[in-house]
Amino acid sequence: MRHRNALALIGNTPLLALTRLSPPGSTIWAKAEFLNPGGSIKDRPALAILRAARASGQLRPGQAVVEMSSGNMGAGLAVVCAVLGHRLVVAMSRGNSAERVRMLQSLGAQVLLVDQVDGAPGQVTGADIAAATAQAMAFARDHDAYYVDQFNNPGSIAAHEHGTGPEILRGTDGRIDAFVATVGSSGTFVGTARSLKRHSAAIRCVAVEPAGAQVLAGQAVVKPRHLLQGTGYGSVPPHWEPALADALLAVSDDEALSYKRRLAHEEGLHVGYSAAANVCACVRLIEAGGLGPAPSVVTVLCDTGLKYA
Ligand SMILES: Cc1ncc(COP(=O)(O)O)c(C=O)c1O
Repeated sequence: MRHRNALALIGNTPLLALTRLSPPGSTIWAKAEFLNPGGSIKDRPALAILRAARASGQLRPGQAVVEMSSGNMGAGLAVVCAVLGHRLVVAMSRGNSAERVRMLQSLGAQVLLVDQVDGAPGQVTGADIAAATAQAMAFARDHDAYYVDQFNNPGSIAAHEHGTGPEILRGTDGRIDAFVATVGSSGTFVGTARSLKRHSAAIRCVAVEPAGAQVLAGQAVVKPRHLLQGTGYGSVPPHWEPALADALLAVSDDEALSYKRRLAHEEGLHVGYSAAANVCACVRLIEAGGLGPAPSVVTVLCDTGLKYA
């Protein structure tokens, strides 16, 4: 197999059957998003957004690109910027792991580290994100840089609606009972669910929130600090479409830790906490019943565990 550059490695990830963790009679299919060159599912929106911006002229050749990121979007953008020839600046909360900073710098990005407001190392809150976002916007203004704005950019959804969703349908021959995903910008969940429900309204789409930060369920945030980095920021993302979510499940830090370990030790998959939360939610959904005989449930392994301390 030959490719012209690293952009060809983004997307078209394989679906893995989690044979050890799937409850008897069911199959959990996990899309191996950690295989993207930036190590996460966020390579997809990074490519979709920058391609669209270049095509529309919003992003000029050689113009600097800036974004707020918990690390993964930054890494995806770094891969795409390297290939397309843009300087990348990433504003990032100090609460994210040092591994993420190192990866961004290794990919040639400049990282602006932003002090935490009310979070703690490894636990980034909505207020921390707001502070990093303000830095990114200020940089764009002062340096005539293209501001990616992943939370408001329609490319975050389009990447999954036209990529992840159709790939899942092709990979399963359309035989899928449910789809499960955590929510950060909501691009993964909203884009993929739109595509799956267009194929069949019967596919149950289940969104996952960190326990104690269940804003999509309409609850007050009682635990803004949680382990599911990249998700659960304590406010409803702008692109959220409540009608797409047939159910919302909350996953605790302890459950995510336990599933992270089980995925590594029993399936050979060293992935991050949101991936672990996704698989935990799949198991709970299947065990709750109601999906019919021999259910097939699809989720995403959002990123590699190598990004975490
Ligand atoms: C590790 C991880 N999991 C899940 C998500 C959520 O993805 P989305 O922004 O598509 O909702 C992100 C987003 O940055 C992430 O970094």
